[in-house]
Amino acid sequence: MSLSQDLTSEAIDKEKFANWLAKIPKAELHLHIDGSLQAERLLELAQKNKVELPYSNLKEIEDAYNFVDLQSFLDLYYLGASVLRDEEDFYWLMMDYLTKCRDQHIVHSEIMVEPQTYFPQGVEFRTMMNGFKRAIHEANETWGQSVLLILSFLRHLPEEDAIATLEKADEFRDDFCAIGLASAEKGNPPNKFQRLYQMAKERGYEAIAHAGEEGPADYIWQSLQQLHVSRVDHGVRCVDDEGLVNFLIENKIPLTVCPLSNIRLCVYDQMQQHPILQLLDRGVRITVNSDDPTYFGGFLNENYFALLHELNMSKEQAITLAENGFKASFLSNERKESFIHQLHAYC
Ligand code: HPA
Ligand code: ZN
Repeated sequence: MSLSQDLTSEAIDKEKFANWLAKIPKAELHLHIDGSLQAERLLELAQKNKVELPYSNLKEIEDAYNFVDLQSFLDLYYLGASVLRDEEDFYWLMMDYLTKCRDQHIVHSEIMVEPQTYFPQGVEFRTMMNGFKRAIHEANETWGQSVLLILSFLRHLPEEDAIATLEKADEFRDDFCAIGLASAEKGNPPNKFQRLYQMAKERGYEAIAHAGEEGPADYIWQSLQQLHVSRVDHGVRCVDDEGLVNFLIENKIPLTVCPLSNIRLCVYDQMQQHPILQLLDRGVRITVNSDDPTYFGGFLNENYFALLHELNMSKEQAITLAENGFKASFLSNERKESFIHQLHAYC
């Protein structure tokens, strides 16, 4: 066979692999609902709610989403979320994402909801929840979509604000499985939120936190030892601390890794530098996720495709990653087994 025939057959194999990947039953465990706000919906809601944005068409949005670090993204992310005002807006935000889940074979999703983002616009907890819950109920009834919600707090705000929000959420206690911590990591260490996590534990929430995305490996240790999280969002900076990697392996602590996010926020210059598959091969419970798909140029399948095309992920690695998504979830053991069975039947 000639070199060009070899290259062609390799391309065909990759395309087949990608088609197979797209249909694997998957779980997504790291998804900020505001990060799934689609550009068309953003423009529509800005017009409806009379919110002035620095962009007026899709091209201008695409040009603006050119981030240099986490903060430059967060500025536009909170601006985007400021267009959400009434129950119907929240319904469509959730429904757009859940429809994407159906298209991409994301059979289970654990979705981060950040009420503090909406309070400055005068949106009430109840308004947001009514919209979200209506969409989740409909998606579950219509195509069996499985969803758990995570109550996520903004770490750039004082701990007292987070605690007041936790207390507001008491009315919706059964709607959330866990609490999380997002927003600007540098300068806002996990140990700023020890009281919040203690109060959430007393209320029976599971605990997760963003750590080791832009912040150091020490923030991952703090999350584990002081906030007692059972799962870490991002966590990629663990590679700087060999003892920490061994701890994650021994204790089966999952990391919710977001490859496209890490490139778009300049955590790595190129995907080739991303340690995801090395960590997976060493036995860390790595999962693949999209984080903020409409800001970072891809939903969950596109993240899997990036691993295939840019890191040469094997079929075996893809299956382990998908399996880890269910294992690392907050579903009951019975539900986990049922999804893993579905995954193996497909594979
Ligand atoms: N990191 C921290 N906060 C966030 C992110 C992220 O990647 N996405 C949305 N909020
Ligand atoms: Zn995130």
